Amino acid sequence: MKDILQELETRRAAARLGGGQKRIEAQHARGKLTARERVELLLDEGSFEEYDMFVTHRCTDFGMEKNRPAGDGVVTGWGTINGRMVYVFSQDFTVLGGSVSATHAMKICKIMDMAMQNGAPVVGINDSGGARIQEGVDSLAGYGEVFQRNIMASGVVPQISVIMGPCAGGAVYSPAMTDFIFMVKDSSYMFVTGPDVVKTVTNEHVTAEELGGASTHTKKSSVADGAFENDVEALAEVRRLVDFLPLNNRQPPPTRPFFDDVDRLEASLDTLVPENPNTPYDMKELILKIADEADFYEIQEDFAKNIITGFIRLEGQTVGVVANQPMVLAGVLDIDSARKAARFVRFCDCFEIPILTLVDVPGFLPGTSQEYNGVIKHGAKLLFAYGEATVPKVTVITRKSYGGAYVVMASKHLRADVNYAWPTSEIAVMGAKGATEIIHRADLGDPDKIAAHTAEYEDRFANPFVAAERGFIDEVIQPRSTRKRVARAFAALRSKQQSMPWKKHDNIPL
Ligand code: HXC
Repeated sequence: MKDILQELETRRAAARLGGGQKRIEAQHARGKLTARERVELLLDEGSFEEYDMFVTHRCTDFGMEKNRPAGDGVVTGWGTINGRMVYVFSQDFTVLGGSVSATHAMKICKIMDMAMQNGAPVVGINDSGGARIQEGVDSLAGYGEVFQRNIMASGVVPQISVIMGPCAGGAVYSPAMTDFIFMVKDSSYMFVTGPDVVKTVTNEHVTAEELGGASTHTKKSSVADGAFENDVEALAEVRRLVDFLPLNNRQPPPTRPFFDDVDRLEASLDTLVPENPNTPYDMKELILKIADEADFYEIQEDFAKNIITGFIRLEGQTVGVVANQPMVLAGVLDIDSARKAARFVRFCDCFEIPILTLVDVPGFLPGTSQEYNGVIKHGAKLLFAYGEATVPKVTVITRKSYGGAYVVMASKHLRADVNYAWPTSEIAVMGAKGATEIIHRADLGDPDKIAAHTAEYEDRFANPFVAAERGFIDEVIQPRSTRKRVARAFAALRSKQQSMPWKKHDNIPL
């Protein structure tokens, strides 16, 4: 018996060593942690239950039968994050470059199946040279099985990808189908074809970092949702994110103890909106003053900054926030901001996270670049996402809400439940100047007349009361009481039930 126990320990120790001490040191020398160190940091101490530690590949080509490392380059299992269950896989670059064999993929599929069956999120830590070249189509088939599970799990359990090394070729499409992607600066990259192929085909000279590093994907492409300094920071941020999310689509988002007065008044909000309608102000100030303990978890902070997306808690419950940012491009809607917000709204809706929308939007961005690149279709994504969302929706208009953008930004007409406006809000087809120049074109040569018409238009429309008279705005509220009013609105909506007509699925403009 003692010998058997000893053998178990010996086998475990060998598996834990992955590709060996030398490769572990090489991994550390690059500023990267090992697959197991990452799992330890991600999960609550001592909570990890590992599966398939002794799985080995079955390849016999290219001498592979002589090299069968236990675990086959991926560490899989489950554990807890602040006491809540998550499944995890962590690719081990020290073992055959973390490359994906049929059995490596099978291990990932096993925990994904368990996650779906048992209703817990999946966190995938990616650090891999891609398809195991020695295995050919078996490896591709393995990827295909993982992809199919990503699709099946979408909207059932939250899926989070952390990119902590190479992730190239078709391999990028597994993270791409998950809900959130985090990257580590200077040590991770994602691209469909690498710099050498790019050079051959397009004659562009580009480094791996420029082509697919964390900065590229969080600032330019929006493929990734967050970029972090190192492995430790990225994993700590995953823990923070998971705290906001429900475990699956059958459970409500978690409620945390909160120590912030829900009736807290913020007198400073009464002067947040400047006198001059063209002067910007920081919408994040409003978000922080509404949130419990000023805790805001921003998603895609570095992309399309004219719209802000992220999570707060109100009375301890998770709420998704979408807010125009007047500090950037006057908070205008454009292709990038519409895509960013639409995806966020859909995430919230599929996981029953209520949505708070803060509106200060002058309209859609004009221009050939926007039109040629399909602002019609991309703008429609946000419209569609809001209109199909059945979660509680509360909207606060702080200042401008013009034209189509008024309708898009969770208006009453898209089944928002409670629509508030600050007294400073202006709900109209367009700003006074533009409107005057169109309806009083004949007077354009007379500045006095134009000024009088503009003043008249402002008087009539630059306020929330026309919309309030029609019931499109439920109440005009004091800015200082926004937290209290919004929290009470969501409290009243806790048992909201709304559904869509039966359909196989919708056809959102992709
Ligand atoms: C088998 C691999 C491997 C792979 C790396 N290794 N990638 N083994 N299949 N795909 C092995 C190396 O042979 C090496 O083994 C060890 O991992 C570490 O690799 P190095 O090259 O020494 O590391 P580094 O210099 O850091 O370079 C990392 C790398 C490079 C950039 C990822 O290894 C590389 O370019 N690999 C090939 C990438 C690739 O073309 N993959 C297929 C993409 S297509 P030893 O024993 O020497 O230490 C794809 C399709 C997916 O993935 C399709 C889905 C549908």
